[in-house]
Amino acid sequence: MKILGIESSCDETAAAVVEASGGSLKILSNVVASQIEMHRLWGGVVPELAGRAHIEKISEVCDNALKDAGCSVKDIDAIAVTSSPGLIGALLVGVNFAKCLAFSHNIPLVPVEHVHAHLCASALLEESPKPPFTALAVSGGHTAIYLGESFTRFTELASTRDDAAGEAFDKVARVIGLPYPGGAAMDKLAYEGDKNAMRFPSPAIAGNTLDFSFSGLKTAALNALNSARQKGEEIDRADLAASFTAAVCSGIAKRAEEALKQTGSKQLVLAGGVAANSHLRAALKNVCDKMGARLFVPPISLCGDNAAMVAAAGYFRYLDGMRADTGLNAFAD
Ligand code: KG4
Ligand code: ZN
Repeated sequence: MKILGIESSCDETAAAVVEASGGSLKILSNVVASQIEMHRLWGGVVPELAGRAHIEKISEVCDNALKDAGCSVKDIDAIAVTSSPGLIGALLVGVNFAKCLAFSHNIPLVPVEHVHAHLCASALLEESPKPPFTALAVSGGHTAIYLGESFTRFTELASTRDDAAGEAFDKVARVIGLPYPGGAAMDKLAYEGDKNAMRFPSPAIAGNTLDFSFSGLKTAALNALNSARQKGEEIDRADLAASFTAAVCSGIAKRAEEALKQTGSKQLVLAGGVAANSHLRAALKNVCDKMGARLFVPPISLCGDNAAMVAAAGYFRYLDGMRADTGLNAFAD
């Protein structure tokens, strides 16, 4: 069967066609129209502009996804759409477009949760994880650990109590003058600095918990920069990027190790925009090697927001019998 995935929860308008046959999933097309250039002018995503840009692009992006997959809407067996969480005006564009397409062509419609979709990107790997697995979602909006009992049932074991990892990367990147979103630029710059130059608090908070907190770490990085500036000094940006990245990665790695111990699972799935971070991938590979576990990381193209992951999540939900009707609504959280 062929599933058309539609994603518009934040600043990427995306559509993809995924084919499921014999239990394996294959990406036939994966189109992403990014709004980053527009939001960069404002240093972050402007929700109103995001919604308008999705309206302008959604039709073309879906057409291109069908064209790239060599099919028409008549060949589609199910339409999967992100209905939560995200920016409400942005989500509504994808949801309403998907509703119209599904009901005008009599195609089943399947609502998808965005973070679960990120976790389902691992199902698109040549060798995908076999549930149950431990999963870590690290993105601009979320940082959480799950037990994946199946590709439709994710039990949250922990989450961030304040900022998400990507949000912290972007904030620190911004104050050292890197363009929005600064995560990828921080990744590169960290190679040029000394990770032991500055000491930052761990995002793996103390206590009997697997939860994270990134706000203390973020504030410590901003304070280090500001107090140096007040003294008329300039902090080495690469040292800051390296030390900050090291603190983020070792905190997440610590929690991943604890989660693997707690679940007893030998598979760790990494997902979300921050999963593109090379230092984080290396830190988690070390944890998995030490624990005799296998790490599943999507290619960079499937880490950030995309619709192939939405189609994959939609496929599993479709098999579970989940359907939506014209009453489908979008939810910000
Ligand atoms: O998953 P995503 O595309 O959107 C959300 O669902 O939030 O994640 C976007 C986040 C941004 O904060 C971006 O800076 C971060 O992922 N990111 C990275 C890297 N590439 C993207 N953070 C650290 N290192 C990277 N290489
Ligand atoms: Zn995302």
